[in-house]
Amino acid sequence: MDTGLLYLSKEDVIAAGVNMAEIIDLLEIAFKEKGKHQTEMPPKPGIHPGGGDNFIHAMPAYIPAMKAAGIKWVSGFPDNLKLGLPYITGLLILNDAETGLPGAVMDCVWLTGMRTGAATALSARYLARPDSSVVGVLGCGVQGRTNLEALVELFPIQKIKAFDVDADAARRYADDMHKRFSVSVEVVAEPKAAVTESDIIVTAGPIMKKPHATIQAGWMAEGAFASLVDFDSYWHPAAMQATAKFCTDDTPQMRHYQTLGYFKNIPAIHADLGELALGEKPGRETPEERTMTANLGLAIDDMAVAPLIVNTAKEKGIGTWLDL
Ligand SMILES: NC(=O)c1ccc[n+]([C@@H]2O[C@H](COP(=O)([O-])OP(=O)(O)OC[C@H]3O[C@@H](n4cnc5c(N)ncnc54)[C@H](O)[C@@H]3O)[C@@H](O)[C@H]2O)c1
Repeated sequence: MDTGLLYLSKEDVIAAGVNMAEIIDLLEIAFKEKGKHQTEMPPKPGIHPGGGDNFIHAMPAYIPAMKAAGIKWVSGFPDNLKLGLPYITGLLILNDAETGLPGAVMDCVWLTGMRTGAATALSARYLARPDSSVVGVLGCGVQGRTNLEALVELFPIQKIKAFDVDADAARRYADDMHKRFSVSVEVVAEPKAAVTESDIIVTAGPIMKKPHATIQAGWMAEGAFASLVDFDSYWHPAAMQATAKFCTDDTPQMRHYQTLGYFKNIPAIHADLGELALGEKPGRETPEERTMTANLGLAIDDMAVAPLIVNTAKEKGIGTWLDL
């Protein structure tokens, strides 16, 4: 039995080589367990240094069926971009589920990006039209990239309409995504052009307690699906009300966020992702309905994937062993 602590830097985590298809599959297992109430995941406590939209959240979870237990300590500081620093940073501790011993500490940026994209794709598996081929991306950063990477795994994606307030970021995104996924990427000058006529819409700008609510009712096409990675920041309440099914990844966590002042004007919740994965609640029922999920990002997403990263790193001799 290992008694040391394996430290994995961001480069080590990437070098372990876990891929998006594996991450989507692991999330599906985790959400089925959650649907069966076989996971432990208290709503995330947080602190808010500097106030505003800054946060540092503690995200513990235990998934018995996956022998996965641990915690992520993750920050989001929107003004970091002006300092040339990443918006999202943090660490994850993975514990041995049988002894409680901490077994690994890893940078969590790559995992956060990948599992959030995977959660969008898993939601889309139940909520989007299977023939969805056009994706509108608003916010061309880390999430804009990983959400597309995940969607490409499950859907016949051909065309992307990309909007970012930073035109250079949108152009870099277009080049990168075209090269990586052989999709055509059109940079659009207005948010509306990324929403209308898209089969799948991903909004991934900064999370704001007071939404800027740019996307209006009537923009989203019939039959489209939207993933609100940046919560309801981008969406006018009337645009959300125009959907037939408004979902989330975890209803209790959504209610918790509401007590903190987020999601003040959302529609009734149709289902959470555990209920969709188990088939307890229906996903899309007609090609015409508009569907939407506001996935909050859950500790079970991280804990479902972290053991594979650690085990693969151990097999490949990646990382730095430390004494406890
Ligand atoms: N729900 C979840 O599970 C989850 C998980 C991780 C991150 N997030 C959220 O996803 C969002 C994106 O995170 P990221 O790591 O990709 O950040 P990032 O800094 O890599 O990218 C954000 C991009 O959005 C652009 N942007 C800013 N305002 C915009 C606007 N109004 N319209 C369009 N683009 C705009 C920026 O120029 C930047 O390119 C953040 O709000 C973050 O909190 C959510």
